[in-house]
Amino acid sequence: YLLIIGKVEFSNLKCTSWDPEWVDFEYCYLKAYNRTFRYLSLKAKLYKLPVKEIKVNFALLKRFGGLKTTLYNITIDGCKFVKDETKANPIITYLYGFYRVYSNINHTCPYDHDIIMEKIPATVFDTQFSEILPFARGEYLFKSNWIYQSNNKASVHVYLSYT
Ligand SMILES: *[C@@H]1O[C@H](CO)[C@@H](O)[C@H](O)[C@H]1NC(C)=O
Ligand SMILES: *[C@@H]1O[C@H](CO)[C@@H](O)[C@H](O)[C@H]1NC(C)=O
Ligand SMILES: *[C@@H]1O[C@H](CO)[C@@H](O)[C@H](O)[C@H]1NC(C)=O
Repeated sequence: YLLIIGKVEFSNLKCTSWDPEWVDFEYCYLKAYNRTFRYLSLKAKLYKLPVKEIKVNFALLKRFGGLKTTLYNITIDGCKFVKDETKANPIITYLYGFYRVYSNINHTCPYDHDIIMEKIPATVFDTQFSEILPFARGEYLFKSNWIYQSNNKASVHVYLSYT
């Protein structure tokens, strides 16, 4: 049979700290090895260690012309995230799949160190989009808010195109 798999490319990345005394980004960039291979890296410095609780609010939006439609918007307990991964929640598994092997937050709380996501290739998103969620081609925005004690401390926005 014929399996058609689309290609995901990063188009932009934005990291914002809403409380620089709590968290700041040392770096946050997209980089190209060559024309066909780009990756995402970021380092968030945490100033109030250890972090014993964190909620992460994720949303995936699709752009239709000037409009954005929210496909998913879920909030997870970042501390229980790793434990919950083995449970049969496809969205959790999907989200975790984004950075499982690329990040140093692949363990349970407390976090007593900076957060690093290193060289996440766009191909990770290829697999996620094509195999796990069969989305239509187009422009997407993957948003995340990092919430500590009900305050949004930081946001990371990843702009993607799926062709
Ligand atoms: C681009 O770089 C990646 C990673 O180093 C490599 O695997 C791939 O073969 C390269 N592609 C081209 C077209 O050079
Ligand atoms: C998810 O929905 C809530 C409630 O409407 C909103 O405040 C929040 O900004 C949304 N999350 C993202 C990441 O866009
Ligand atoms: C967690 O990430 C580290 C560093 O990237 C990696 O060496 C380790 O294998 C990962 N652990 C799990 C459980 O995936």
